[in-house]
Amino acid sequence: MHTGVLVIVAAIFTIVVAILGRLIQNSLLVGKKPPIFEDVPFIGGLLKFLKGPWGLISEGYSRYGEVFTVPVATQRITFLIGPDVAPHFFKASDDEMSQTEVYKFNVPTFGPGVVYDVEQKIRTEQFRFFTEALKKDRLKKYVPQFVMEAEAYFSKWEETGVVDFAEEFSKLVTLTAARTLLGREVREQMFEKVSSLLHDLDEGMIPISTIAPYLPIPAHRKRDRARKELRDIFAKVVRERRASGAKEEDVLQQFIDAKYQNVYGGRHTTDEEICGLLIASLFAGQHTSSITTAWTGLYMTENKAISWDKAVKEQQDMIKAHGSEISYDVLQELDVLHRCVTEALRMHPPLIMVLRYAKTPFSVTTRSGKEYHIPQGDVVAASPNFAHTLPYVFADPLKYDPDRFAPPREEDKKTPFGFVGFGGGRHGCIGSNFAYLQIKTIWSVLMRNFEFELLDPVPEPEYNAMVIGPKPCRVRYTRRKLQVA
Ligand code: HEM
Repeated sequence: MHTGVLVIVAAIFTIVVAILGRLIQNSLLVGKKPPIFEDVPFIGGLLKFLKGPWGLISEGYSRYGEVFTVPVATQRITFLIGPDVAPHFFKASDDEMSQTEVYKFNVPTFGPGVVYDVEQKIRTEQFRFFTEALKKDRLKKYVPQFVMEAEAYFSKWEETGVVDFAEEFSKLVTLTAARTLLGREVREQMFEKVSSLLHDLDEGMIPISTIAPYLPIPAHRKRDRARKELRDIFAKVVRERRASGAKEEDVLQQFIDAKYQNVYGGRHTTDEEICGLLIASLFAGQHTSSITTAWTGLYMTENKAISWDKAVKEQQDMIKAHGSEISYDVLQELDVLHRCVTEALRMHPPLIMVLRYAKTPFSVTTRSGKEYHIPQGDVVAASPNFAHTLPYVFADPLKYDPDRFAPPREEDKKTPFGFVGFGGGRHGCIGSNFAYLQIKTIWSVLMRNFEFELLDPVPEPEYNAMVIGPKPCRVRYTRRKLQVA
């Protein structure tokens, strides 16, 4: 037979075997391995993935339910949707469900020697540095800095004007992050330079970077140059602080003073590590916080009666009780505003997928009692966005309804791993309190000084971004001083 014909026959044979194999696997292993969501053998999963995660998850869920596997190139990605199949994902040890394999694309951005570039026991200690830098007594010191930055920023707005919340809050949160995380020196003496380098670092994190983080493309080369320059700048600040013995109230100071306990012979952090930890905290907290601040405002403005008016009344009550100061304690009392932030985060979590690598096989049982075995070697994905639209966790889930979090409903507390905007379990967000305080500060300052009106409908999320925020939306602001009767 002609070689060309042989090749075609062999190719057809391979495809038929693959299709049969998948069909047999799907029918025989029901109740064992999750169903494969692919349609076109070999390339179907990749094609679906390239169309975007939201469409992929919606279609997969409507066809197969809470558990399904999408083969993408040589990797299987298994989706676990909803609280019934989530506990192992969130609670398992790092030896069972690992982050290193799925998040190591961050290494060239964060730099060597930190977070996903180090073994688990070192990472655990580094996350302890974060936890200590963000605990209550520290947070109390950051609040006045949030207030100062927010008041200074909005004092530059005119009497009335049109803004895009996402754009404005992105700028403001860069300023507050510079002050509270990177420190006074960076904020006051070299903010323009540092924020332009951080911008290059940000632009170097594009979808292809998650698969090929070292691909020699201009965006990655710029990223690498920016990170080296940032390291030199931060190292100089650290040297000067150490030399002068000055102590500041910021996260940088906490990282400088941090000491390992069970690794590296209990030494202090190095300059390189401090730089990496600062960058990691910016990447974890900056876009996520500014985006949530924007959604909070968009929905409050659209739903005056059920949120804005109540939140404004709450501000008036606070001013009556505590005067005009916005302190940690005042922010803690803002329950209505807190629920508005939580509801914005429920409707639009900025991290559409969180990932793990299954180092050991495990089983999950769906709501209807079907058991699936997830093999070792799968990448496993949970989606806060999709999990938050499940009607058996959140009543009328597409409706904006901040009171769903108020007693006695407390829908976020009723189902373990039902609300996962901040993840949960072993690797739940370390910065959630910091984020709430920052967002509530910004909105307290705004509610006390402005009225808003949406000029466009609340926009769709921009799913083509790494961290998902709202598409542009014009909002009119008008300055006014909040009256306290
Ligand atoms: C609204 C703002 C924020 C959102 C929506 C958010 C969301 C999340 C989520 C979903 C995770 C879990 C990731 C996973 O399971 O793989 C996480 C982890 C983390 N977040 Fe946040 N975050 C926010 C703000 C912050 C801030 C301000 C910081 C620090 C200043 C921060 C630091 C961290 C860290 C260090 C982790 C890793 C914890 C671990 O792996 O053990 N986050 N965050």
